Amino acid sequence: MVAIEVYPGSDLAYAAAEHIADLAAAAIRARGRFSVALSGGNTPRPVYECLGTAPFAWRIDWSKTHIFWGDERCVAPDDPNSNYRVVRQALLDHVSIPPGNIRRMRGEIEPHAAALEYTKVLEEFFGGSARRGPPSDGFDLMLLGMGDNGHTASLFPGMPAVHETAKWVTAEYVAAVSGWRITLTPVVINAAKHVAFLVAGAEKADRLREVIEGTYRPDVLPAQVVRPASGQVTWLVDEDAAAHLSEDEHATNA
Ligand code: 6PG
Repeated sequence: MVAIEVYPGSDLAYAAAEHIADLAAAAIRARGRFSVALSGGNTPRPVYECLGTAPFAWRIDWSKTHIFWGDERCVAPDDPNSNYRVVRQALLDHVSIPPGNIRRMRGEIEPHAAALEYTKVLEEFFGGSARRGPPSDGFDLMLLGMGDNGHTASLFPGMPAVHETAKWVTAEYVAAVSGWRITLTPVVINAAKHVAFLVAGAEKADRLREVIEGTYRPDVLPAQVVRPASGQVTWLVDEDAAAHLSEDEHATNA
């Protein structure tokens, strides 16, 4: 099931925080823990800030919440480009979460070693093995962004990782951003129980329409490769990004 929820720009961050808090409460009720892979980029920063303040800072049981990343830039954790640093400053420094519940991708080490290390981190948390197939019980939530070229996580147009069918985590040099990236592959992303895309801004309107309503061509639009077996995808978008979507495609929450 794919849901598209459109919000005024000023409401999107709070709505996304609500979505995350609701999924957290349900997961903890059902399984005693909530596992979420967070997105990088700028769009989710206000969401992380929202989660780190009232009411979410006390509404979510952080002692049972496990934080992962969907991708990371190959930089040190205190580098301004680090996805971990964004979440640390906006959220983790403001909530009582056990350090052991935070599992960052180590962007500061050799990229392939970091990808292998993170694969082991995921195997230990979810059980199973990348050699034997996808996690049988994946993330409760994958939070993803979408670039204006249709990439998501660090799955960029033309990258082999877009079609990965075995590895859970890969590292590649991404020419589009002139840097090495570590990323979860569709194998892990599509094993998630829920996927939420967070997209904002008029500059993404055309691409968003192509990804959601256009022909399936993940080599060009990697975000299209996200088709979780559970089928639960929610697009949380602002009015500017939704401007070119067909009217009957979405619910508007003005
Ligand atoms: C990253 C992200 C990436 C991001 C998109 C959108 O590491 O940059 O994981 O996939 O979500 O590039 O980024 P913005 O939110 O900054 O537009």
